[in-house]
Amino acid sequence: MAVDLAFTQRLPKIELHAHLTGSISRACLHNIWTTRHAADPTFDLEDPLVAIPDGKVDYDINSFFPLFSSYIYKLCNDIPSIEFSTRSVLHEFQCDGVVYLELRTTPRAIPEQGVSKEDYVKTILGLLHEHNKDQRNSMRVFLILSVDRRNTAAEAEEVVDLAARYRSVGVVGVDLCGNPARGDVRIFTDAFARAKAAGLKITLHFGETEASASDQELETLLSWHPDRLGHVIHVKEEYQETIIQRHIGVELCLSCNVHAKMIAGGYPDHHFGLWRKSSVPVILCTDDVGVFCSPLSVEYSLAAKHFELNRPEVRHLCERALGSIFAGPEESSRLDKIYSEWDGWEA
Ligand code: IMP
Ligand code: ZN
Repeated sequence: MAVDLAFTQRLPKIELHAHLTGSISRACLHNIWTTRHAADPTFDLEDPLVAIPDGKVDYDINSFFPLFSSYIYKLCNDIPSIEFSTRSVLHEFQCDGVVYLELRTTPRAIPEQGVSKEDYVKTILGLLHEHNKDQRNSMRVFLILSVDRRNTAAEAEEVVDLAARYRSVGVVGVDLCGNPARGDVRIFTDAFARAKAAGLKITLHFGETEASASDQELETLLSWHPDRLGHVIHVKEEYQETIIQRHIGVELCLSCNVHAKMIAGGYPDHHFGLWRKSSVPVILCTDDVGVFCSPLSVEYSLAAKHFELNRPEVRHLCERALGSIFAGPEESSRLDKIYSEWDGWEA
């Protein structure tokens, strides 16, 4: 039976690598812009439909990061915009058939609005809580807080403090993200050690570009004992072996890597082909669906198409992913039940 888009849309999916701000759709950004512009005609930011044209997905490592710092953060720089966009992101993941989501975001202060990083985190957690407690929602969502590579060691400690403080109310882990051309990750070693000691899980952007794949960097990152790794592109065999031995889950983002030209070639050349044959949990993820416009259901159908996956193989992939979620056993058994009882495998 075919693994087509109709099947992958119905498939209950697990999304573990999604940046909140990068997941905001263009339509949602446009709505925010319309509201802000109506409230204040001097609001002089360009309409998102002009700044980020429909259909444009060819953002590379040079054009991608400035999109946030010089545009989206400026558009979504008050609490109502953050609330509106977060609700919209949750709605879209759920409509795409995601049943478990770990959303990640970098705590952001907005001093001109009197918003602290803690206010930002509390706002998001409030929305996640509202979503999770609504029995009509089939998706459960948890939060990962990101350290940006441009952060100072003290800023990274602040992220870990926030993650530890809000661990009992939905924060499940800490991530290292940001422009791979920037920063020296060694300065974050203490912060990530403290995160581990506080019982938080760790996921790291790993070997995303050649610039962030020196032996020194990858050894440092592995020394933090990450629970999962994202992208895993420029990784030599020796480190691949370590990942396999330690059974670290890998979060792979096909369309993002292809559109941003982070890998050589196209979909059939993606390292998903290598990792799917390994024993580690392999999780297909979107990374930034607002930018690359490929929802998780499409990522599954692309993987199926280019790697000739049949339904039992897709099922095996989903059930393997389950082993590396950051929420506790209650969620694992809920998901396990969803997969074992799902009537769509044969339908
Ligand atoms: P936020 O953390 O919710 O504000 O989401 C946007 C941020 O995620 C960006 O500013 C980047 O720092 C980070 N990000 C998104 N995609 C990537 C990626 O592919 N690599 C590294 N960092 C990323
Ligand atoms: Zn990412």
